[in-house]
Formats: sequence, structure tokens, C-alpha cells
Amino acid sequence: MAARGIHHLGVAVEDLDAALATYERLFGAEVEHSATVEEQGVRAASLRIGTGRVELLEPLGEDTPVGRFLAKRGPGMHHVAYEVSDLGATLVELARAGADLIDEQPRAGLFGLEVAFIHPDSVHGVLTEVVSRG
Ligand code: CO
Repeated sequence: MAARGIHHLGVAVEDLDAALATYERLFGAEVEHSATVEEQGVRAASLRIGTGRVELLEPLGEDTPVGRFLAKRGPGMHHVAYEVSDLGATLVELARAGADLIDEQPRAGLFGLEVAFIHPDSVHGVLTEVVSRG
């Protein structure tokens, strides 16, 4: 499986508005999308910084995936997302190559993306997302 490149870096934050202001002030980030996604337990924003992209994630509560991450690890880097062309085929290849898939099937992610997550133990401690445009 050859990824096309890094699609975004995911960052867990305690205060989305404060984080947005920081990324705008320090790096000239521009908001590409923002949304509250109840079923994923986040308020999220996708930022463009030059040709790159950062996804900021604020948990809607403590008992959400990002809320649990914040409680355990504090704010900071949460995941790396790689863009692939055919997510279904990629997941089959990843499983065959020994990756421990959190999502065995593509699912709806943020901002219209199709996504799946790979367990960090498979990727040297990095929670890894593979995405394709839905
Ligand atoms: Co992501």
C-alpha cells in the first residue's frame, strides 16, 4: 500500500477557539471546515497551513475518545492521517500486512472523509488514520 501523502495531523485541544486563534496568529492558518459531530464526541476544525492541514479536536465530554485521550495524555498530537485512493482495498492490504485495524471497514469521518484508524501499537506508538475522499 502506498499512501499519497499526509492528509492531516490531528491535534487534541481543550479549547478549540483558543487553539484556532493560536494557529491563525502563529502560522497563518485558515479554517477550511468546522463542525460539531455529536456521534464522534468532538468539536472539530480543519485548518489549511500552506499546503498542509491540521485537524483540531476538542472533546464534547470526558467520556469520548478525545476526552479520554486528554485525560490520559494531555493536549497535543493525537493522530497522523494518510491519504489513500481506495480505502476499502487499503484496509485489506493493511490487515494482510499485519496492521491491527481499529476499523475493519471504512466509516464516515469528519468533513465528508471516509476513514479508518489503525491501532498505535501497529505503528510504533502513533495512532494512524487512513482517509479517502468520501
Ligand atoms: Co483525522
